[in-house]
Amino acid sequence: MNILILGSGGREHALAWAVKQNPKCDRLIVAPGNAGITMLAECADIDILDGATVVSFCEENAMDFVIIGPEAPLAAGVADACRQAGLLTFGPSAAAARLEASKAFTKEICDACKAPTAAYARFTEAAQARAYVTAQGAPIVVKADGLAAGKGVIVAMTEAEALAAIDDMFGGEFGAAGAEVVIEEFMEGEEASFFILSDGTNARPIGTAQDHKRVGDGDTGPNTGGMGAYSPAPVLTEAIQKQAMEEIVLPTIREMARRGTPYQGVLYAGLMIEDGRARLVEYNARFGDPETQVLMMRLGAQALDLMLACAEGRLAGCQVNWAEDHALTVVMAAKGYPGAYKTGSEIRGLDRCPEDSRHMVFHAGTAARDGQIIANGGRVLNVTARGDTLADARNRAYAMIDHIRWPEGFCRSDIGWRALTE
Ligand code: AMP
Ligand code: GLY
Repeated sequence: MNILILGSGGREHALAWAVKQNPKCDRLIVAPGNAGITMLAECADIDILDGATVVSFCEENAMDFVIIGPEAPLAAGVADACRQAGLLTFGPSAAAARLEASKAFTKEICDACKAPTAAYARFTEAAQARAYVTAQGAPIVVKADGLAAGKGVIVAMTEAEALAAIDDMFGGEFGAAGAEVVIEEFMEGEEASFFILSDGTNARPIGTAQDHKRVGDGDTGPNTGGMGAYSPAPVLTEAIQKQAMEEIVLPTIREMARRGTPYQGVLYAGLMIEDGRARLVEYNARFGDPETQVLMMRLGAQALDLMLACAEGRLAGCQVNWAEDHALTVVMAAKGYPGAYKTGSEIRGLDRCPEDSRHMVFHAGTAARDGQIIANGGRVLNVTARGDTLADARNRAYAMIDHIRWPEGFCRSDIGWRALTE
């Protein structure tokens, strides 16, 4: 079968790596892809936000299955366009992707199906939002309703911070995404990510992970897109996964179906766990980045079978085979990230890193120049390994990093610390 993956980051490199291992995959194209992805698939530079372009590309190249990586094409309706054209598609419709694209919508769904989440209120005017914050006090969380590239959430430890965030959002800092603001109760606890496939009716958990959002060791410094991840997440015990399925995920999937907008694709539930119970922080309508890198390391070739079953509505009869293993990924980023950084520096030593079912350097932001690999983004490489224990996976990943010669880059030295010290 011929498969098209949309996206260009480490997530898409990991998806391509897993899909390629499955004998069902004949031709694999990633659009637009990156320098690492060209080593295992063809790359095509097309406008992935335009449904008509994606559909005609699929028709011209006889693609049988489309896997959509990032949220932007989902929110733009690319999955709808593909399905309307009769293409087998992995990824929710624009209406279902509102679970990520609108925080107020997610809260509405939680209310409708009584899923546990933070108490909240929503506002379209600054004065009322400010009055609410003054009445509630801090800590409190201020969120721009729409997609803001992960930057639209301010966890305010003081009232002044929350008021400033409200002014920024209504002042247009996040454009249309900030036209509505959701203000939430601050939840204490430990965060973890739970990944579930849904074919619209049935759901199958496909793994857990924990991310490291802060840029510095010891979880210090500004927030980032994620500096590393590991799977499984020990905090998401079997019992908590069951509770999260019964109280949060399955009611959401039933409510989406009831509204005539069934959810088809991967649902990424960000959970806050406290006192043995999970509450929903947010949904994403796509795989996490860098969480996918560790999930794909563990799922391998069956990832394609699972995504196909999801797209074809066959999840009910589907089984996920788990090994008792652990995977960990360390993000290497350009110095300065998540602030300003330079692109174009050369990365050497990648050829000294092993590439097999236990080791893989996924490329997140790279390009090729004169036969060299150069940095072309903030998050640049995802050095990923699998082991029998988390410590084994961690040691293998950092041993690979020792081979990489890239003075203009940096990484955290403590990925996995929380689970390793528990
Ligand atoms: P979100 O984009 O909604 O996941 O928010 C980004 C991050 O902000 C989350 O991963 C949490 O670390 C934090 N966060 C969001 N909402 C809350 C909340 N109600 N209480 C505490 N932390 C939160
Ligand atoms: N790693 C967080 C995300 O993908 O949203």
